[in-house]
Amino acid sequence: LFTPVEMAPRDPILGLNEAFNADPRKEKINLGVGVYFDEDGKIPLLKAVARAEEFRQQAMAPRGYLPIEGIAAYDNAVQKLLFGQDSDVIQQQRIVTAQSIGGTGALKLGADFLKTLDTSGIVAISNPSWENHRALFTNAGYEVQDYRYYEPSTNGLDFLGMLEDLQALPPSSVVILHACCHNPTGVDLTVENWHEIIKIIQTKQHIPFLDIAYQGFGQGIEEDAAAVRLFAESGMVFFVSSSFSKSFSFYGERVGALSIVTQTTEEAQRVLSQVKRVIRTNYSNPPTHGATIVNMVLNNPELNALWQEELASMRKRIQQMRTLMVQQLKNKGANKDFGFIIEQHGMFSYTGLTAAQVERLREEFAIYAVSTGRICVAALNMKNIDAVTDAIVEVCK
Ligand code: LMR
Repeated sequence: LFTPVEMAPRDPILGLNEAFNADPRKEKINLGVGVYFDEDGKIPLLKAVARAEEFRQQAMAPRGYLPIEGIAAYDNAVQKLLFGQDSDVIQQQRIVTAQSIGGTGALKLGADFLKTLDTSGIVAISNPSWENHRALFTNAGYEVQDYRYYEPSTNGLDFLGMLEDLQALPPSSVVILHACCHNPTGVDLTVENWHEIIKIIQTKQHIPFLDIAYQGFGQGIEEDAAAVRLFAESGMVFFVSSSFSKSFSFYGERVGALSIVTQTTEEAQRVLSQVKRVIRTNYSNPPTHGATIVNMVLNNPELNALWQEELASMRKRIQQMRTLMVQQLKNKGANKDFGFIIEQHGMFSYTGLTAAQVERLREEFAIYAVSTGRICVAALNMKNIDAVTDAIVEVCK
């Protein structure tokens, strides 16, 4: 049976963790995976989370099955976070939200449900995109195409290329869009850009699928949801996958959600019934713990305020690291201007380093980055940044 089974390549991101963990060098630095580390190089346990955990511990609640679509209060809180407290689409009960196994789980639920609908069969992702988008949608049975997004010569956006490519797709294609903090480039669309994208998507009757895994890491919780809200205002139907892995520092808890904006309340009910079938036949119903904690934090005004403060301080620390990194690279005589890193948003920077330079970083300096040149700025701190900028200057010579 297994004789013809080939060895699969290592995952380009999570596989790096495996290599990093196996590396015996003490000075090693992991800038590969998208995880926020604090000043001490540790994954923080947020205070808001710790308090909610205490309440939960005291309650000693039984662990029965959750409803197939997850905790209702959690699903409602997710909607408010994404669409805004006073959102019309929430009031009109046109959104379906289901708790999911992280943001990846939400993408997969959406992919499986969309597969039952009338689409062109093509999923378009940005070039470049999160490494797993292509694999996930290919495995779900779609033909995955790229649309232009990043322009290496300016370290910025190829907006005209993006518009042309979205225009050229067959009608009713699924378009994956990073709502904020584009992964891997950190290059985001402006509100004006979004308006133009929405026009084309509407004209071509494409199906937008917004992926928002870093809400709060760009400009702020509300600001980062601007694209979601613009799509809601446009009256279109669309999909949103969201995640609390980063914003709650809750990676292993796998807490996310799939939200689908429909046209009517009645449509929403039919869509929900089908999403529940997809969930039931994949993993039956979602796990209790992580979403219970997120629900407690989001729905308790005091814990919510504390969480927002903690998220803001993570965001600010990343911005400080961006500024410091650029200053150090300049002061150390880097042979190129890295000023664009300050303009990028979220956890990542697309540094422009080549695969060969990234390999040298790993081999000679024990610094791990994704081979595309993506580094996780959220893993830099005052203790490791000198070593990182020294090494970058060296490999760029
Ligand atoms: C990343 O891009 O590094 C994160 O989203 C983690 C992952 O699952 O790839």
